Amino acid sequence: MSRRPVIIAPSILSANFVRLEEDIRMLEAGGADWLHLDIMDGHFVPNITIGPPVVAAIRKVSKLPLDCHLMITDPDQYIPAFAKAGADYITVHVETCNHLHRTVQLIKSLGVKAGVTLNPATSLSAVREILPDVDMILLMSVNPGFGGQEFIPSLHRRATTLRQWIDTQGFDCLIEVDGGIKLDNIAEVYASGVDVVVSGSGIFAASDPQAMIGKMKEACRNVGVVEV
Ligand code: DX5
Ligand code: ZN
Repeated sequence: MSRRPVIIAPSILSANFVRLEEDIRMLEAGGADWLHLDIMDGHFVPNITIGPPVVAAIRKVSKLPLDCHLMITDPDQYIPAFAKAGADYITVHVETCNHLHRTVQLIKSLGVKAGVTLNPATSLSAVREILPDVDMILLMSVNPGFGGQEFIPSLHRRATTLRQWIDTQGFDCLIEVDGGIKLDNIAEVYASGVDVVVSGSGIFAASDPQAMIGKMKEACRNVGVVEV
């Protein structure tokens, strides 16, 4: 089965924050398709990272699509600021949204593509009704909060099911996966029907991070969707 090539979205969570522009240039030279920006608030997840000013600064130095993964409580309060900062995609966690449809409409009203994210233990049914309205579903393959954690293998079954739901209904919705993805498991993840792969430590901890992006793309070439 022919399918679109994998989109690699390196997570800058594993970058060197005092040399961020240098690291972004390296990712661009290596063929990164998007930049994945992890926004953590110390409430929804036990870690604090970056906010709109840093997203705006990155926007000034890169033309790559900025994929903002909001791991924050009360995302509606901050979505306009991330849109203004230059986000191309804003994904919110379904676990943080009391009125998911309203939040998705808010993102879209600001001219930004809307994504919804699920933790590994959240049932896929939590996003079934929103599929016609979203541009992307992000499936976590680790519990959010930190880079460098181990991949949770239930992702394969979840991605395969979600792919079936999207394809049988003809929705225009990407599937993204985030957490614990490295060169040795990326082909299997892509084979589950995933479109966008996030990788942080899998790229930055490599001996040659720039070359790693090309190796990951190569590993996904000629991979079809595995039916289970
Ligand atoms: C985890 C973040 C991920 C993280 C991925 O909460 O959402 O984007 O940076 O890092 P690795 O690829 O190292 O698991
Ligand atoms: Zn992320």
